[in-house]
Amino acid sequence: MASRHGDTSGTKRRWLAWLFLLLVAGGGIAALGWYQLFREEPQHFDSVEAYYLYGSIGAEQEEGIPYWIWRVLPEVFPQHLPGEGGYAALGMLWEEGEATPVGFSKKTIGFPRIAINCAACHTASYRTAEDAERQIVPTGPQQTFDPQAYLRFLGDAADDPDFTAANLLAAIEEQTELSWLDRLLYRFLIIPRTRDGLQEQAARFAWTEERPRWGPGRIDPFNPVKFHPDLLALDPAEDDTIGNSDIMPLWAMDEQEGFALHWDGLNDSLTEVVLSGAIGDGARPATLPVDALAELEAYLLTKRPPPYPFLYALDADLAAEGEAVFQRTCAGCHGLEGARTGTVIPQPEVGTDPHRLAMWTAEAAERYNAYAEDYPWDFNAFVKTDGYVAKPLTGIWLRAPYLHNGSVPTLEDLLRPADERPERFYRGYDVYHPERMGFIHEGEAAEREGFHYDTAEPGNSNQGHEGATFGTELDEQEKAALIEYLKTL
Ligand code: HEC
Ligand code: HEC
Repeated sequence: MASRHGDTSGTKRRWLAWLFLLLVAGGGIAALGWYQLFREEPQHFDSVEAYYLYGSIGAEQEEGIPYWIWRVLPEVFPQHLPGEGGYAALGMLWEEGEATPVGFSKKTIGFPRIAINCAACHTASYRTAEDAERQIVPTGPQQTFDPQAYLRFLGDAADDPDFTAANLLAAIEEQTELSWLDRLLYRFLIIPRTRDGLQEQAARFAWTEERPRWGPGRIDPFNPVKFHPDLLALDPAEDDTIGNSDIMPLWAMDEQEGFALHWDGLNDSLTEVVLSGAIGDGARPATLPVDALAELEAYLLTKRPPPYPFLYALDADLAAEGEAVFQRTCAGCHGLEGARTGTVIPQPEVGTDPHRLAMWTAEAAERYNAYAEDYPWDFNAFVKTDGYVAKPLTGIWLRAPYLHNGSVPTLEDLLRPADERPERFYRGYDVYHPERMGFIHEGEAAEREGFHYDTAEPGNSNQGHEGATFGTELDEQEKAALIEYLKTL
């Protein structure tokens, strides 16, 4: 009996040992899988500006692309890019020695992933001559990057029959060494899943194919949020609005305390605008780095724009004359102490293109205010307005082309009646004109590098902001003086 009992318990013990081994091994595989796919490695930056340019805003989890796949796509699919030179053909700014272009964060969540951040849109570039060094201005409005062309490239690549594990792995292994386990994961999980994800993303943006192109330096900021099934879940089939709008600068936000933000003033809380900016770019409530974004917000308050690059040629007397014109004509809406500065000017009064205004609806505002109710942070300040905000003009030289849709290439043109402004021009060429207060927007080089902007397209109108109130009836001397003064802001 004793021995039989011993046998039984011996068998039991062996089984238990097997089970234990199995559990350890199984757990090990699960842990290894977790490590390879989900472990988060913190990023390190020397300054808040470096974080601004290259840090994560929490978008990698939801909309990150595996870095190595992203890296080789232009090589494997050059035919889907609008020009030569890899991602530079999409107008990305890529500084020597950096792992990613400006505005792209590389973060390891299991494997290295890449996603955009605020700087993808909110970083300006300019050159003082075609062959001069390109200056990069964090928080300035992008001129060259074409986000819509980027989305199209990713979708076209994913749809290409050559988007296979074999092709991509071959290209990746010329750039980096993958472990056998990585290779297995890329082949059977990461590459197929990326392809599906990029195709899903392209389908979510299908509505953009039927509406006018954004072109470099512009996006439709809120229709993607309105139409995203996980965000405001509105139906693009029942909404044909066009929100195309020029990117805004984020410098000197301390001047805008309490002001209505965004072109139409749809929210007056900088904190809410920053957090919703990150959500619009792919962060989700669970991944939103609220503390890091608070640091970023503080950075935006005190950051200043660079001075106008041709200031050495400023005519100080003329500028002083121009300051008087500004105080008389513009300061009530654009001066830092102006009674209407930072407020919404009704669209019929300013008369600019109404499409961007119509894009944001009361229903969308209501849904966004309800979106984050279960979180310690929350949205409460989204509203529907009836016009466009008159902003302070700090750094106005670098904000060309002008108006919310970027429809007027220079300040000279903005001070002319609308029917004397250019009907067509090129935008996205970042060489600055030394006199006209705007980028060079015509001629061979602008045509080669730029995007053809046609003011006849819906959403692109260059009408409005004209008449005595808006300075288009000033005489030539007053206009010249005013422009001289605006160079100093
Ligand atoms: C894909 C491009 C893009 C990205 C990325 C982006 N923005 Fe913006 N942002 C815009 C555009 C375009 C506007 C103007 C939109 C409008 O109102 O029509 C804007 C407006 C703003 C404004 C309002 C400025 C003002 O003076 O009223 C703030 C603040 C802002 N963004 C912050 C951010 C922050 C912070 C991030 C990152 C978390 C971010 N944005 C990411 C394109 C972008
Ligand atoms: C009644 C208020 C009002 C007055 C007066 C006014 N503006 Fe404006 N301004 C606006 C509004 C509103 C906008 C935004 C319109 C839009 O983008 O659709 C604007 C836009 C602008 C812009 C484009 C900003 C950008 O980032 O693209 C410039 C430049 C500008 N105004 C300059 C002036 C100058 C110079 C004067 C004086 C000669 C002037 N404005 C007078 C209300 C005013």
